[in-house]
Amino acid sequence: MISKNKHNTLFLFFIAFTAVSYAQHHNISAGYIPPSDHLVQQNLEEWQDLKFGLFMHWGTYSQWGIVESWSLCPEDEGWTVRRGPHSDNYFEYKKAYENLQTTFNPTAFNPEKWAQAAQQAGMKYVVFTTKHHDGFAMFDTKQSDYKITDAKTPFSSSPRADVTKEIFHTFRDKGFKIGAYFSKPDWHTEHYWWPYFPPKDRNVNYDPAKYPERWNKFKQFTYNQIEELMTNYGRVDILWLDGGWVRPLASVDTTVDWQRTIKVEQDIDMPRIAAMARRHQPGLLVVDRTVPGEFENYVTPEQQVPDKSLDIPWESCMTMGSSWSYVPDDTYKPARDIVHTLIKIVSRGGNYLLNIGPGPHGDWDPDAYDRLQAVGGWMAINSEGIYATRPVAPYNEGDVYYTRKNDGSATYAFMLSTEDTVELPTSVRLPLPGGGAVKRVELLGIGKLRFKETDDALEITIPKNRRQPVDLRYATVFKLTH
Ligand code: GLC
Repeated sequence: MISKNKHNTLFLFFIAFTAVSYAQHHNISAGYIPPSDHLVQQNLEEWQDLKFGLFMHWGTYSQWGIVESWSLCPEDEGWTVRRGPHSDNYFEYKKAYENLQTTFNPTAFNPEKWAQAAQQAGMKYVVFTTKHHDGFAMFDTKQSDYKITDAKTPFSSSPRADVTKEIFHTFRDKGFKIGAYFSKPDWHTEHYWWPYFPPKDRNVNYDPAKYPERWNKFKQFTYNQIEELMTNYGRVDILWLDGGWVRPLASVDTTVDWQRTIKVEQDIDMPRIAAMARRHQPGLLVVDRTVPGEFENYVTPEQQVPDKSLDIPWESCMTMGSSWSYVPDDTYKPARDIVHTLIKIVSRGGNYLLNIGPGPHGDWDPDAYDRLQAVGGWMAINSEGIYATRPVAPYNEGDVYYTRKNDGSATYAFMLSTEDTVELPTSVRLPLPGGGAVKRVELLGIGKLRFKETDDALEITIPKNRRQPVDLRYATVFKLTH
């Protein structure tokens, strides 16, 4: 039985905060170093063929329906605002937040249902928050009892309590590549936020140069947790490291707003971590995001699509709702927007990592399933123009976007539509990207069409009976075979 008091508490949180945190915008692309290890190169090529992945932010915070972790951060920003009981007292609040461990019981957890929905939508990889900045481990770490498998957490009695393991195994069985999101900063361990001092901001709250022993313990703690993830969880393809303020001081880019908060050395020894991780997981992609160099195998623009093609591997991570974490009654983006975003990203050479936040009971909002299903309907007809393609100039002309199969065998032209019912004109003139004689033109889902090739364009004729033959919603795709 939930007491009335508890109901009120829940209600308070449910009307709370939905703003997405924009805590880690960064300048992309400067300083990229291509991997030299051929297994990493190969994994990176394969990953670039997949295009569409599922991101999930899930933790004890999902019970309050608040932003992931950030309400613990004593910075005065829109995404750190505390709400609900104890919000007027930082330390009381932190206690209550951490106490969420004792009520977390996501009994509806069913990763098969997620994997099936993601697969049907055409997603090919998954990245899951094994530990966010708050330090709560969604896996069975031996380094801390602030974890889902600890006896204090009700869900620990479930045979599926190690949700990271369950998610990774389930998605891997369906052929997904597996990504472990892991926050380098940890706002729970005394080796990062030493209780002797109050935390001042997102950063370590003591000077590691002055207290090297404590910092070394933090380094070892991080190393050990990552080693657990690299050894007990089967094949892992991507180590997605968040929290770019844990970085060598010399790598700070002071033109980026949030990096100006970094005042002390926070070198965590990435060469050692990456070498260990790749010993266990050969070919592993390491994404030490926002820290350009050897350990950022691809870059990760957040909540945005670069406005042109980038010449390095990249992935836009974006929320399907308004927040990374679950928020009750959130508004989910329409399927049309999702498909259009996917096309834009792929035409510029990137991958799309689309986030859904599971709720407190361990399931998604029905709207998330609904969107994935609609996206899957479009993908079932058109995905061959998405996977295993590379960008081709001019990328787009107005509302027509291009991709090319990476073996050069075909070019795809996506005509975006804003209406559900599309009536095609009697003929379409497509500017022809980057050479390659066209042998055959096909409207995906419909069939072969007559065409004429002029100097720099194709004139495609569309017979009357094919102008409105199926539901061409979201985008119509012409395949030009070379
Ligand atoms: C933002 C958020 C962080 C989230 C990340 C995902 O940086 O601040 O909480 O995990 O985006 O990319």
